[in-house]
Amino acid sequence: MFKEFLDLGRHPIANAFLQKEEDFKDEFLFDLKVGLDTDTKLVSIKNFVEPERIFNQDYPYNTSNSFPMIEHFRKTAGMLYNEYGNETCYRVLEIGSNSGTFIENFSKVDSVCVEPCGNFAEITEGMGYKTYVDFWTTELAEKILSNDGYRDLIYAANCICHIHDLDDTFRAVKKLLSPSGIFVFEDPSLLRIIERGSYDQIYDEHPHIFSVTALNNLLRRNGLQIFRVDNLSVHGGSNRIYACHTDSCLVGDSVRYNLQEESVFGISNFETYEIFAERVFNSKKKLVKLFEDLKSDGKKIMSIGATAKSTTVFNYCGIDNSIIDVITDTTIDKQNTYSPGAHIPVVSPDKVNMIDYDYAYLGAWNFKDVIINKQREFVESGGKFITHVPQVMMFS
Ligand code: TMP
Repeated sequence: MFKEFLDLGRHPIANAFLQKEEDFKDEFLFDLKVGLDTDTKLVSIKNFVEPERIFNQDYPYNTSNSFPMIEHFRKTAGMLYNEYGNETCYRVLEIGSNSGTFIENFSKVDSVCVEPCGNFAEITEGMGYKTYVDFWTTELAEKILSNDGYRDLIYAANCICHIHDLDDTFRAVKKLLSPSGIFVFEDPSLLRIIERGSYDQIYDEHPHIFSVTALNNLLRRNGLQIFRVDNLSVHGGSNRIYACHTDSCLVGDSVRYNLQEESVFGISNFETYEIFAERVFNSKKKLVKLFEDLKSDGKKIMSIGATAKSTTVFNYCGIDNSIIDVITDTTIDKQNTYSPGAHIPVVSPDKVNMIDYDYAYLGAWNFKDVIINKQREFVESGGKFITHVPQVMMFS
């Protein structure tokens, strides 16, 4: 049974940056409410947005724009190959291959990509990787099986939690996975989100927020089994889940450890979510008060990183251009646009003289260290950063 615990209000598509002011009036909005499925323990948003509205030719999130993520995928690919690969033939499939930063570490002959966003599918095709421009479904898995054969590694990063029908997703994986193959996927960890109070990781693109507990239940009922879990620091804390066909591998201690940790934390108890919802509401009150106080003191505020996360914060907290003058982002496709819902101009970092500002809100708090390192001049001139994770605070 779906039990709602959090209402974040009306929201736009978190990555749908607007090209011009005339687009404001036609902006698509939906109610962002979150609940727990009391049977599987899966946390999901209540109203799913049609995937075609989000993942299309205009999808702007490009992994290649983030040096920490390029490095993350290079290391992940190397580790998977060294620990599970096979020199003669290692048949890989990536679901949600984006700009190819993971798949580029594997052979073009044996690898296949699946990517519904045409702009990114073109990139991996251009790199020489066979790419299916489609959503991940059992129908597509059957097609790939007949065209390309079984896969020894099926990998997905920050993608499985985007898919509405998880039973179909896991059935599709089961169909295409070779008998000794592994399915590895990483997504933000529900436990870390609750611990850090990072409610901004909830938006249309994340219809589900995964606990190991819920994944264990869902994978099992589709003939797959988790045998290893890595806790990662990316995106403020993610879990990399390793699964195989049921009873085809030994279950490691990391699985028991994670299930135990989540159980002690109360991941299956509805009360845990009620407490989290209260914390989210208090975080909003504090952030709004802080911004209002700074503005009444005549301070100038900008934001770094036009992230989907900041879309959630700005829309939930009602923060608009009267509070934040401008957002900078290194992603070319996000530059010279307006942020979804809040309509704050987004520009290249070169267009902003940071020392003109008193405060910089960290829209990309997950890259806090990288960003702060680049902003020494801002700090030396008295500038301060603002974040809401793990709590609303200012620092320099
Ligand atoms: P993410 O948190 O969803 O990965 O997105 C990070 C965004 O922040 C992405 O659009 C790139 C942007 N960014 C900057 O603008 N400056 C930076 O120094 C870094 C690391 C990221």
